[in-house]
Amino acid sequence: MCGIICYLGERPALPILVDGLRRLEYRGYDSSGIAVFHNGGIECDRAVGKIRALEESLKGKTLPSSGGMAHTRWATHGAPSEFNAHPHFGGSRVYVIHNGIIENYQEIKARLLDKGHLFVSETDTEVLAHLIEDCYSTDLTEAVTKALHQVRGAFGIAVMSSEDPEQIVVARRGSPLVLGLRNGEIFAASDVAALVSHTRNVVYLQDNDIAVLRRGQHDIFNLDDADILREPETVEWDVSAAEKHGYPHYMLKEIYEQPASVENAMRGRLVDDEGVSKLGGLNPVLDKVLNMDRLIIVSCGTSFYAGLIGRNIIETCTDVGVDVDLASEFRYRKLNLKPGTVVLAISQSGETADTLAAVREARRKGVTVLGLVNVVGSSIARETNAGIYNHAGPEIGVASTKAFTSQVAVLYLFCLLLARRHRMSLTEGQEFIREFRSIPQKIEEILRHADQIERIAKRYNGYSNFLFAGRQLNHPIAREGALKLKEISYLHAEAYAAGEMKHGPIALIDEQFPSICIAPRDSTREKMISNIQEIRARRGPVIAIGTEGDSALGEVCDDLIEIPQVHELFTPLLTVVPLQLLAYYIARENGCEIDQPRNLAKSVTVE
Ligand code: M6R
Repeated sequence: MCGIICYLGERPALPILVDGLRRLEYRGYDSSGIAVFHNGGIECDRAVGKIRALEESLKGKTLPSSGGMAHTRWATHGAPSEFNAHPHFGGSRVYVIHNGIIENYQEIKARLLDKGHLFVSETDTEVLAHLIEDCYSTDLTEAVTKALHQVRGAFGIAVMSSEDPEQIVVARRGSPLVLGLRNGEIFAASDVAALVSHTRNVVYLQDNDIAVLRRGQHDIFNLDDADILREPETVEWDVSAAEKHGYPHYMLKEIYEQPASVENAMRGRLVDDEGVSKLGGLNPVLDKVLNMDRLIIVSCGTSFYAGLIGRNIIETCTDVGVDVDLASEFRYRKLNLKPGTVVLAISQSGETADTLAAVREARRKGVTVLGLVNVVGSSIARETNAGIYNHAGPEIGVASTKAFTSQVAVLYLFCLLLARRHRMSLTEGQEFIREFRSIPQKIEEILRHADQIERIAKRYNGYSNFLFAGRQLNHPIAREGALKLKEISYLHAEAYAAGEMKHGPIALIDEQFPSICIAPRDSTREKMISNIQEIRARRGPVIAIGTEGDSALGEVCDDLIEIPQVHELFTPLLTVVPLQLLAYYIARENGCEIDQPRNLAKSVTVE
């Protein structure tokens, strides 16, 4: 979604801001803009499309400013256009950039129109800029505070005034903002990725914080004017973790990082002798977790599919009943949460608006809420009672890959912790760990044969529709595979539990409608082979994902992609990898913008 980067310091601001915007590109955007202090005023430029369009419009301008702010916009109110792009002008002195949505902007706008304010865009942000202007006599911070008291909704904002070239005021509610501290300089951004090349010393702002930034200095208040002290923290990863390292796309790099990211998820968390896992982040509520009788997993998109796998493995190995709910539905359900219930929110970004709202709703109902989050310090990580980080490192590609497998890896750890309290024996626990530890190396084996998947992708590139089918643990993988393909290649892909085929979707099958069937050697393999034969009988081409050496499967499909032998409980961590590669190579064959697919954002911070 939208991105914010601000800078005040000694160095020229323009290159720092443009570089920050580039590092925010992965979040998804359709226009961008910049405002810098210049000659006692503010110079503002905006452009539709990629950041290079903004750079074009800045060409030839000499702007030796050392302070300013910049924004990437993902359209919500009003189409992508120069008028709707940020920064927005309040009509006299104030410029505002904003992530989020001001819900009551129409009523505020009506009031301001009556007072004579004129608007040039369709955005809620322009209304906020005018509102701040309206509240502004001499003190910008006071004006921002007064204005924010009147708005409903979510915001991360930065505000500049032509009357004070030494300061930028930033504030947040429901939309992330982080300050970057460095000698004589200060940064603010909606995402650590935008500033980590300059400093790893950061302060995460929290809801209702307002911070006044000056060169090398910041003061934080809350909306009631009370001073707030927020301790600086050190970002664990450095800028090189967010670079491509020779890969043509972040997505491909992240696919290849999975042996390491799955290893990282399990590092230091397995106790081989005792056949159990330890998850220190759960300690504050461990009793409640170990004694829960019902688990509800809430999440969106790919994280939802990780949750479905979690349900299957936890129900297989423990006596805990598990529900998995789309966070966007959970938040509006009439919930009857009993005391023994625990809610687990899964989110890569930790900022997904629906998942965050589900967390808040569950907390309101008084149950224990856990987070499984990748981004350290994110809102979900902070607002849950306890949690587990999956430590996948920064994921830049919009299509989630390594975050997914590391979420699933953490769910195995979580499952083992519970299972050893329930019916799993010591030897079964040790066997579980042995098998689990073999996964990174088995993912590596699959990646070594990526060229075969690339060749298959080239052959299937001309098709416009795909059906993905799997059973049990590999039904969510079929759904994840279809999601990967549609998000980055814009091809129609749908996924079914293979047993459902003859209840409807088989009507779609003909020689133009290939199926991707996930059929590793497990307890459902024979049924999958029957499903494949039904598809073949209707002349549907079939790509199968199967276990190495499965010649019977090889005989019934057109193309077989092999994964190494593994206990059936762990197959999802392997079967998903060929599907990620298949989606990647098909999208590449189609010339798609793989890392920033159209209409999508990395972190969906609006409802
Ligand atoms: O950051 P989150 O895990 O909460 O994000 C949830 C979804 O928005 C995300 O998984 C989305 O579906 C991805 N684009 C999938 O590749």
